[in-house]
Amino acid sequence: EQIKKGDFDHFMKKEIHEQPGSLTTSMRGRLKDGIVGLGGLKDHMRTIRRSRRIIFIGCGTSFHAALAARPIMEELTDIPVTMEIASDMLDRKALIFKEDTAVFVSQSGETADTLLALEYALENGALCLGVTNTVGSTLARKTHCGVHINAGCEIGVASTKAYTCQIVVMVMIALAIGSDKLSTLAKREDIIAGLTKLPEQVHDVLELDGEMKSLAESLIDEQSLLMFGRGNNYATALEGALKVKEVALMHSEGMLAGEMKHGPLALVDEYLPIIVIATRDDTFRLCNVRDNNSHLFYCFFFLVSSCIIFLFIYSKQQSVIQQLHARKGRLIVMCSKGDASLVCPDGRSRVIEVPQVVDCLQPIINIIPLQLLAYHLTVLRGYNVDQPRNLAKSVTTQ
Ligand code: G6P
Repeated sequence: EQIKKGDFDHFMKKEIHEQPGSLTTSMRGRLKDGIVGLGGLKDHMRTIRRSRRIIFIGCGTSFHAALAARPIMEELTDIPVTMEIASDMLDRKALIFKEDTAVFVSQSGETADTLLALEYALENGALCLGVTNTVGSTLARKTHCGVHINAGCEIGVASTKAYTCQIVVMVMIALAIGSDKLSTLAKREDIIAGLTKLPEQVHDVLELDGEMKSLAESLIDEQSLLMFGRGNNYATALEGALKVKEVALMHSEGMLAGEMKHGPLALVDEYLPIIVIATRDDTFRLCNVRDNNSHLFYCFFFLVSSCIIFLFIYSKQQSVIQQLHARKGRLIVMCSKGDASLVCPDGRSRVIEVPQVVDCLQPIINIIPLQLLAYHLTVLRGYNVDQPRNLAKSVTTQ
């Protein structure tokens, strides 16, 4: 059933639309009465909690999924998280220690660079954890422990449903590791409530299909498309741009909005289209308040710091929009529902409105319109959606 296109013209479109179902399957049996249960990790949980560092390792879309999960992993576990692209880790012979937990993320579980990085981490004594879609894959077999994402078979070369399921699984891993901390209880409850509603909200965002097709029509002849994101949605900018370049064969770059003034601003004019991701982050990167604070104090601190940090971050992204407007930038702004007049008071920019969800799940919502955009751009430009030139679903050579 899964390897037929059904009513869809392409696997990529089918897989984009399967996401409400694949996310449900990813979570099935793992969230019970507000508690996350991940059988594949339970024997190693003590070691993971004592790690000096968590290292996320992957390639392409899988790397982006890990990047999207990094803020919540740090916030809920109090363990520093570093990022490694597998090939770069090997090129540098990056330092890795036996006190590290190395998390390998791979849809196929067979990507050569990721597997070589796994060998390297094993040799260096790190605890190796796998996050993969493929039961019985080399990654699943060689890691000490892990979690299958259960996204279902993904045929399109451009990864879509595996990306969102990888993020959900890594959020669940963060919840499981951090489940002994009183200080983050309220946040964990919010996330678990958010996960329960997520498939339905993804279903709603898929309604933007027609709007994304019309946006694609307006971009069909462009040479380049920039995407700016920050915080939880830096990964969204990178992943959105990767989708556009790999299938629509259009130059596209995802950039950290905070870096805009250090170079990319020079590119801005009235012609170059720029997507700015400016959805609200309600509790962005709360400071790590330790368990020994009283609960009341913590709640008060949590509320005040949430407001301050939210206003700070949100207004930072608004200031990016203003700076781009001042240079007559051609903007397409992704914002939370109801914020259109706030982010574009003069109504000059195109707006993509999406539902606001708990901050760590927002990248899952935000990537959907960009997947749809990449899909429609590809079809309109007449390229092969499911098998882009020069690319393979799984790169098994170095
Ligand atoms: C290839 C695919 C990408 C994928 C990457 C990593 O480059 O074209 O879509 O993200 O490999 O694959 P993995 O199976 O390790 O997630």
